[in-house]
Amino acid sequence: MTIDALRCMRAAALTLACALLPLASEAAPSATDASAQGALLPRDSRDAGIFRGGLVYANYCVTCHGFNADGNGRAARLYNPRPANLRMSDKNDAYFGLIIRQGGEAMGRSQFMPPWGAELTDEQVNDLVIYLRSINARPKE
Ligand code: HEC
Repeated sequence: MTIDALRCMRAAALTLACALLPLASEAAPSATDASAQGALLPRDSRDAGIFRGGLVYANYCVTCHGFNADGNGRAARLYNPRPANLRMSDKNDAYFGLIIRQGGEAMGRSQFMPPWGAELTDEQVNDLVIYLRSINARPKE
């Protein structure tokens, strides 16, 4: 891949991240309040994790799982089974961490859920898990 192509991909990813910013702050209303007042979120707070996780999600997951994390990304129709509706997932945080790091195939699921463990840092994966938990809309049983 050429340097130009890489630069362009990076620019596209940033644009996506910017487009998703309003979504990320909707998921974390208190984060919005805090930043509106110019306050810095404590690095280890849940709100900071949700915010960072939303950015990681926008960069790496939107194409398949969709802006709304409902499994309807632009590439979703290429895959069978379809990318999961992450808002309605019944999986726990530990499972999220495992399938994100190791990918679908290692978990007995579709190979088209890629493994991210080599690409994302532990902090990025943890933030993704916090983000996915924050947008989960599945009614508690
Ligand atoms: C190339 C498409 C693709 C990308 C990109 C992708 N996924 Fe997936 N993902 C899938 C598919 C397909 C499944 C469904 C696997 C199955 O049902 O066997 C899935 C399943 C999952 C699941 C399991 C949910 C459940 O309820 O079982 C989680 C969690 C998940 N993805 C998170 C992510 C995250 C976080 C990212 C970004 C870091 C991501 N995915 C990027 C295709 C993708």
